[in-house]
Amino acid sequence: MVSFQLTDEQTAIRDLARKFTQKEIVPVAAEYDEKAEMPWPVIQKAFEIGLWNLNIPEKYGGQGLDALTQVLIYEELAYGCLGIFGAFGGNALAVTPLLIAGTEEQKEKFLTPFCAKPSLAAFALTEPNAGSDVSNLATTATRKGDEYILNGTKCFITHGGIADLYTIFASTDKTKGTKGISAFLVPGNTPGLYMGKKEDKMGDRASHIGEVIIEEVRVPASNLLGREGEGFKIAMRTLDITRPSIGAAALGVARRAFEEALKYSKERVQFGKPISANQAIQFMLADMATGIECARALVWKAAWHIDQGKPNTMLSAMSKCYASDMAMKVTVDALQIFGGYGYMKDYPMEKLMRDVKITQIYEGTNQIQRMVIASQLLR
Ligand code: CAA
Repeated sequence: MVSFQLTDEQTAIRDLARKFTQKEIVPVAAEYDEKAEMPWPVIQKAFEIGLWNLNIPEKYGGQGLDALTQVLIYEELAYGCLGIFGAFGGNALAVTPLLIAGTEEQKEKFLTPFCAKPSLAAFALTEPNAGSDVSNLATTATRKGDEYILNGTKCFITHGGIADLYTIFASTDKTKGTKGISAFLVPGNTPGLYMGKKEDKMGDRASHIGEVIIEEVRVPASNLLGREGEGFKIAMRTLDITRPSIGAAALGVARRAFEEALKYSKERVQFGKPISANQAIQFMLADMATGIECARALVWKAAWHIDQGKPNTMLSAMSKCYASDMAMKVTVDALQIFGGYGYMKDYPMEKLMRDVKITQIYEGTNQIQRMVIASQLLR
């Protein structure tokens, strides 16, 4: 039976996120974009009203929300600002390996203090020569007695250099490729863990992306997630869970661009009539609205599969890929409807277009998503 009926709880928290976005995110989005700063006051307020740590179970101090409820919230937050959503999404991504592969002891030890205050987590997988090709990781982890010693450099890491907790992927056996990768929990204050370059980005500017330098970082062997060699699969299973959230965020940006363009098209008068009277504009609006509906259905289905424990690798990749491609096109077309005004910083359109580009790239480029989809189809 197919039902698109949200529960009362889901509707209530979606509405809470919508109000929060209107009150706390929309008014400050342009300012954070300009300054490229972490939106700490927004995070603090989200923490206070229960919109932070959405995917962490309640017993550790999180909200314990299912995947479908999370994507409802992410659509709303990104409607206000994709960069500000980035803090929420970056944290969710970084703690997912611990949620899926951690022991009860590790969860209690790392998540309970993490949730006691507004903390940041970082998923440290990407490296200068290991972006799409995760198997090419150069970061190493060498076992010495009861410790591992980590060395390497990570790049393009959300919360890189400022996180309280890192999930670092490193090679424990270079001869084994993906089967030689392991995942480690590393507290942010561990000696030898430094922030490298903070990236200056085209869009998504309220989200902190930085380089992480790892020099002789020693962690107890008990910080290994799962077993040695399981890191690659943990990373892939993590991305299966989090990619629909990127789809949801792209959807939020697309909905914002569409709503702005729809409103403007009814107000802007040229040749003695609103531009919405022109079929050329109407067709663009019709395509935008259709794309948004399709993407939402796919994002919800991918999230529902996660909640049902059903295989979701393909649907997660599809939802991220389709929603972000759709959102890129919607923001370009929406800006076109604004004409010259859309290109100016006085209107929100150029920011939406700059911001949404990253959703086609992070958590795996859309070319990688198509590889994942095709490999599932051809299995
Ligand atoms: N779940 C479980 N296991 C999986 C899996 C999944 N989704 N995908 C692959 N595996 C398993 C395979 O079954 C295989 O195991 P066996 O050998 O035991 O059968 C093993 O992992 C290796 O799989 P592949 O041969 O398919 O691996 P590959 O080297 O060909 O790589 C890839 C596949 C899809 C290209 C993968 O490397 C990939 O997803 N790359 C993109 C990485 C990515 O998304 N990076 C983004 C980082 S996060 C970020 O951007 C956020 C930020 O902070 C800014």
